[in-house]
Amino acid sequence: MGSPSALVKRLTEWRAQALRAAKAAGIPAEEVEILLRERLGWGPLERLMGRAPAGEGDPLEEVQALWRQRVEERIPLQYLLGKVEWAGLSLRVTPAVLIPRPETELLVEQASLWLQANPLPPGSCFADLGTGSGAIAIALAHHHPQLRLLAVDSSPEALAVAADNVVAHHLQERVNLLLGSWFVPLDPWRGQLRGLVSNPPYIPSAELASLMPEVRLHEPRQALDGGEDGLAHLRLLIQAAPDYLAPNSFWAVEVMRGQAPWVAEQLQARGCYRQIQVHRDLAGVERVVSAHFVG
Ligand SMILES: C[S@@+](CC[C@H](N)C(=O)[O-])C[C@H]1O[C@@H](n2cnc3c(N)ncnc32)[C@H](O)[C@@H]1O
Repeated sequence: MGSPSALVKRLTEWRAQALRAAKAAGIPAEEVEILLRERLGWGPLERLMGRAPAGEGDPLEEVQALWRQRVEERIPLQYLLGKVEWAGLSLRVTPAVLIPRPETELLVEQASLWLQANPLPPGSCFADLGTGSGAIAIALAHHHPQLRLLAVDSSPEALAVAADNVVAHHLQERVNLLLGSWFVPLDPWRGQLRGLVSNPPYIPSAELASLMPEVRLHEPRQALDGGEDGLAHLRLLIQAAPDYLAPNSFWAVEVMRGQAPWVAEQLQARGCYRQIQVHRDLAGVERVVSAHFVG
């Protein structure tokens, strides 16, 4: 492996080369820094001080292998590292779950605002339908100790990842993981939920082929495919929710660009929702539709 200064030189050269490869491949430069920091603890300070990472063997070898997978196979960095930072939480992710997106934090924010305005007694139940890694359910349980979260997914592999995340955040007492399709596992809670949130699959099937390779090749199709018009699952979430919600409850979903007006219209037409609101994400996209279910 050579002396520490020889290692620093190799790391510096590799970093410069990886930054060039990232640019050519359209991968954000910060991913190189994240990889070096996460795997070697080699950040800007260490670089500045010319400090070599500690450890046995050749520390560059694993980083180089991971980076090759990132560039050549287009595997998302979060899967390669097995984790993501989201909504202030560290979450385990594997290819069995969608990588939680920054814009999905908006759903948690809107639920939190509603909870501030509508205080609920301890033990009140919210459902997170299509929980994937458990991100939304865990964030809500973490920030709102009065809530119990029912986190549903039809993928047992996804629920296994969610289970790890629930345990890692010590939320086993208040986050229940339920296997099944949408409302089916929620039958015992008919008419009792005080909130329902979901980031369902909403991409029209025909558009899946044109998604970026990171998503198309590596994220679970089951997490993306919204059927022919992209609205199959949203339709169900709108239609069935009134049977499961208690009067004066919260309802919110994430949607893709262009779907929000349709969702808002459908809610309006049902006559049992008030305060129907569309919220834009940081990119200005109408991303979340929320409503107050009056019963
Ligand atoms: C877009 S992902 C959202 C994951 C996570 N909630 C998030 O925001 O990062 C949609 C999730 O819905 C789940 N799903 C798909 N079809 C389902 C169904 N019929 N019933 C329950 N969950 C389903 C997928 O397995 C996937 O985990």
